[in-house]
Amino acid sequence: MLKIFIGLVVAGLVIALVLENYNTAKHPKRSINNSNSNDRNHHGDIFYNTHPYPGAEMDNIFWFVQVSDIHISRFQDPRRITDFEEFCSETIDVIKPALVLATGDLTDAKTSSKLGSQQYEVEWQAYHNILKRSRVLERTKWIDIRGNHDAFNIISLESVNNYYRKYSATKKEGSFHYIHQTPFGSYSFICVDATLTPGPKRPFNFFGILDQTRMDELSILESKSLNSNQSIWFGHYTTSTIISPFPGIRQIMSSAVAYLCGHLHTLGGLMPVLHSRHPQGTLELELADWKDSRRFRVLAFDHDLLSFSDLSFEEWPAVLITNPKAAKYTNPAVEPLGRIQSSTHIRILAFSAAQITAVYVHIDGKLLGEARPVKGPLFTLKWDPMRYTKGLHNIEVKVEDAAGRSAVRHHEFTLENDVSLGFGFLQSFILLTDHYILARVTFVFLVLVNLGLIVTFRYLGPPALKDSSGFVSQARLSLHLFCKTNTLYYSSLLFTLCTAFGPWFIGEMIDGHSGACFAFGVFIEGHLHEGSLTFVVGVLQLVFFNIPLTCYLCWSMYLRCQGNCFRTHFRRAGRVQSLMVNVVMLALLLWQTYSCYFLLETYGTTACLLSPLRTWALVLGLLLIRYAWTCHPPRLRQFIKSSQPS
Ligand SMILES: *[C@@H]1O[C@H](CO)[C@@H](O)[C@H](O)[C@H]1NC(C)=O
Ligand SMILES: *[C@@H]1O[C@H](CO)[C@@H](O)[C@H](O)[C@H]1NC(C)=O
Repeated sequence: MLKIFIGLVVAGLVIALVLENYNTAKHPKRSINNSNSNDRNHHGDIFYNTHPYPGAEMDNIFWFVQVSDIHISRFQDPRRITDFEEFCSETIDVIKPALVLATGDLTDAKTSSKLGSQQYEVEWQAYHNILKRSRVLERTKWIDIRGNHDAFNIISLESVNNYYRKYSATKKEGSFHYIHQTPFGSYSFICVDATLTPGPKRPFNFFGILDQTRMDELSILESKSLNSNQSIWFGHYTTSTIISPFPGIRQIMSSAVAYLCGHLHTLGGLMPVLHSRHPQGTLELELADWKDSRRFRVLAFDHDLLSFSDLSFEEWPAVLITNPKAAKYTNPAVEPLGRIQSSTHIRILAFSAAQITAVYVHIDGKLLGEARPVKGPLFTLKWDPMRYTKGLHNIEVKVEDAAGRSAVRHHEFTLENDVSLGFGFLQSFILLTDHYILARVTFVFLVLVNLGLIVTFRYLGPPALKDSSGFVSQARLSLHLFCKTNTLYYSSLLFTLCTAFGPWFIGEMIDGHSGACFAFGVFIEGHLHEGSLTFVVGVLQLVFFNIPLTCYLCWSMYLRCQGNCFRTHFRRAGRVQSLMVNVVMLALLLWQTYSCYFLLETYGTTACLLSPLRTWALVLGLLLIRYAWTCHPPRLRQFIKSSQPS
């Protein structure tokens, strides 16, 4: 599925470059009124620069952990499970987070061929046993939510194979609000549940959907969270892979300092870091997977300023600089950033399985000193922020532990209000685009072009014979031939209409529950999930089968009416060129055959047999190719004369 997604991303890039809506440096600024910056954020009660200020005490700070896309599998990579158990016992023991967010895809739920999907109780039992054996639930607040894999092939939440209900720690259905209470304030954690119910088998489970009811629920949670000092939203899907009604998921969460998610992994290794900022100011921080990369994230609220560090399993020491925080990851709309310039100490969280022996702090390449341990993982070093009031500065921290290991972490910080750093274009494109809209537009455009061309040429007067050389006139002539041959024209018209409006296949979208897949959505027992990935699949179908097939048939007809047949056309039309065209067509037919096999593996035999878009299209394609090479060849002269308007 990621491969299809990558394809979509590449296709969309072109359109995105034109739109240029990804300038993340332009984040919403609070209206700072010079020295007396007492303006409120939309929580209404936290000030930009008021007490308390970061200092030398272990106060106003807590930290938590995120892990995502664990994909416990009965078939793949058994170390994934043992490593995860070690993570729950040892890593969590070292870090001692206030809470842990496991943001979906707890289990893999894929069949051994990696194509099909179903819930395996053993995977859930493995997950459950890890939680039990490691006793992690006694040591921290463990919040685990469902991802798309945890919802594969589940007709309803009450279904017996919804093992999340039985084996997870949270067992909550739908979105929910957890408030972490501390002596220095309260912090909201809001879960966005966009998983599909009923949950079809893969792949048509890739996008999440929030309907109006779910959006209203989230709005209520949002308004309740405004009493908290800060709120974090989290979910499995990136906002770019969630379908939501107006005003959209990003607007609903605009009071959050950040949205934490997973789902895209590292896009097959292409994007190890996927972070961006919404136009509303909320940071969107996708986390690489546990599945293959063994990544996790430590986040901290220090005096209501959020900082985080993406880490790898068993790579100690882990370092998180909480003050001054990274300039790139500020959310000026909700964070009291003025506290950085009023702070008295640089603050660092350093974690390691062995004792930490030294924490060195450099600013702009110069050693500032060694930070002293305060309590737990907190280290502080006195500083004078007034020396750094202008521009960007680089802070670098080196941590050493008793096992002889060391780690270096650095970032840029600023004390100015209007310095803002943007995110990479590609990251922002992937996280901030509503990909389903892009796919819909592309699909509709391609269908219209396809239909428009064949219908136009059907009713267009024939071309003059004299200019029948040159590529364009040959193409025109061949389109005339194609469109005016009834068999080809009507088959092609029907096939395109079926791609656009007809059922693609009918079968068991969920085991024991039949459904049908259309471009515009997936029906399951009277329930419609509006189309998203279907449009991507539709675009691929058009680009890699429908359109090339039409072109090939046009080309064959053109050669045919010059008196060639399949055997002779190699000689007459240029050996290399003909060979190439046929090889390409053969490759596309093989791709279509693979699509049929994929359908068989993912949705079963019925779906494969009752599939106009896949199996039937393959048969139709072969029949049309055979027809084109064997039909009674229309004489070019006759064809042009006879179809000339009298
Ligand atoms: C800044 O403060 C002054 C007076 O204190 C006020 O007149 C002005 O409107 C304020 N500007 C902004 C942008 O809030
Ligand atoms: C959290 O909010 C309360 C109430 O507004 C405030 O008194 C407290 O200082 C805040 N906590 C932090 C760490 O800023």
